[in-house]
Formats: sequence, C-alpha cells, structure tokens
Amino acid sequence: MSVPAFSFDLSGRVALVTGASSGLGRRFATLLAASGAKVVIGARRVELLTELADEIAASGGEALAVTLDVTDEASIIAAYDAAATRFGPVDTVIANAGLNVAGSAMGLNVDDFDRMVSVNLRGVFLTVREGARRMVAAGARERGNGRVTIISSITAHQPAAGIAPYAATKAAVAQMGRSLAKDWAGKGINVNVLCPGYVATEMNEAIWDQPAGAALLAGFARPRVMDEDALDALILFLSSDASRFMTGSVVTLDDGQTL
Ligand SMILES: NC(=O)c1ccc[n+]([C@@H]2O[C@H](COP(=O)([O-])OP(=O)(O)OC[C@H]3O[C@@H](n4cnc5c(N)ncnc54)[C@H](OP(=O)(O)O)[C@@H]3O)[C@@H](O)[C@H]2O)c1
Repeated sequence: MSVPAFSFDLSGRVALVTGASSGLGRRFATLLAASGAKVVIGARRVELLTELADEIAASGGEALAVTLDVTDEASIIAAYDAAATRFGPVDTVIANAGLNVAGSAMGLNVDDFDRMVSVNLRGVFLTVREGARRMVAAGARERGNGRVTIISSITAHQPAAGIAPYAATKAAVAQMGRSLAKDWAGKGINVNVLCPGYVATEMNEAIWDQPAGAALLAGFARPRVMDEDALDALILFLSSDASRFMTGSVVTLDDGQTL
C-alpha cells in the first residue's frame, strides 16, 4: 500500500474495524495501524485477516485478527472482549462491514433483502452500541476520546436502479448515526457518517464493464471510479483527537459523482 503524504498520530488508540478482510476496511485497518493505533480487524474470512495482521506486523504495526459476524451479537461481544484482553478497551470504531445484493427489485429474493438489513443496519447498530458501552465504561465521558465512524454510501441520498434495499440501509445508518451522535454527545463519543462515492474494490469491480455500470460511470461529472486512497485523510481525521469538535456529520466524499 502506498504511504500517505500526511500523518495523524493515533498512538494510544485502540481501533476496531469491521469488514477488514477486503476492500475499504482492509485499507482503513492498514492506515490506522500505520498511524500508531492498535487495530482489531474483524470479518468472517479469518484467513484473510490473519494475512493482513501479519502484513501490519511486518510493517511495525500491531493488529489482532478476530472472527466476526456482525449479524451475531455474541460474536461482536467476543471481538470486543478479545480486543480488551490484548490491547485494552476500544476507543475507535469503524463500522464498515457491508453487503450489496444488486439486481431488479422485482426479482429480489427476500432472504437477500433480510441479509442486507441484517449486516448493513442491524450489524452497524450492534457494533457501535457495544463499542459505545465499553467507551463509556472506560471513561470516554471524562476523556472525550470516543470515535465512531459509520460507513454509509452516496446511495443514502442518491437514488440508483438495482440497489433499492442497499440504498435504504445506507440512508438508515446515516440517520441512525446522527441520532446516536446526539444521544452520545454528552458521553464523550463522537459519531460521524461517511458517504463515499464509488471506490474501486471487490464489491464493485465486476460492474464497470457491464452496460449498467458503464452507464453509471458515463453519468458522473468525472467518469471515473475513485482510487483506493480517496478516503485516507478523512478516515484518519475522524479517528483522531483532531476531530473532537466534529460529531453528527454526514460527510460525502465522491469526486462529484452525485452532482
Ligand atoms: N467500494 C465502494 O465503492 C463503496 C462506496 C460506498 C460505500 N461502500 C461501503 O464500504 C463498506 C466496505 O465495502 P467494500 O467496497 O470494501 O466491499 P467489500 O470488499 O465487499 O468488503 C465488505 C466487507 O464486509 C465484510 N462483511 C460482510 N458481511 C459481514 C458480516 N456478516 N460480518 C462481518 N463482516 C462482514 C466482508 O468480510 P467477510 O466476507 O470476510 O465477512 C468484507 O470485509 C461497505 O459498507 C460498503 O457498503 C463502498
């Protein structure tokens, strides 16, 4: 991974990144570790996480791979427990795990609908709720150091064909994030929502060569997908002490894709 030209000091922080086995989550975890945070990386494909933990360690960082299914509350609690045992309490959460089953709404299997709600909405709620409980128990109110970043999407506010349930879950977590920010403002926990435009990852790599993907691309103000480093600065900022006055924000970073 190329090293960013800017830096944030995250030493002393313990971060949990969900969906860290691929794509954006993998990058976020690598970046946080390179900035000094101890990082707990969670997802279902544990072999990919173990590889990533080894890579982070080889670069001088610290990471713990945990098997995590965000649809299963016990698995989330176990991940926070493992984090606390190895590194101490988590003070930074990136709720990134997500799932999209694209296709015609009329043909969508209801089980796929339920899976998207379960991972993208319920899973985010369970992840950040457990994180917040532990931040408060560890003194976030006094220290003001709790940081929660929810990964939503431009589809939270930009309609697109073939992704209605996904878009609905992303709109829901954006509003949930703002409401949680209000709930937790007095508890020393900042909650912000990041709505990225399309970044080249595993989730979307297959679509750009197909007619619908090509049409989507052609409609962007700049007909391109963002590079993998597009969100680096914002993720580090939102995870750092520098963002202490930022909570309840829903930030779009999309290269103008929604213009
Ligand atoms: N790429 C983009 O252009 C883009 C744009 C806007 C928003 N986003 C959002 O960014 C996030 C990451 O997406 P991505 O593009 O990086 O896709 P990705 O490469 O498919 O990554 C999704 C991650 O979520 C994990 N995951 C899925 N179900 C899970 C579950 N039940 N429990 C725990 N982890 C689970 C996957 O790991 P396992 O399969 O190993 O569990 C994987 O690590 C998603 O929330 C997505 O909606 C992406």
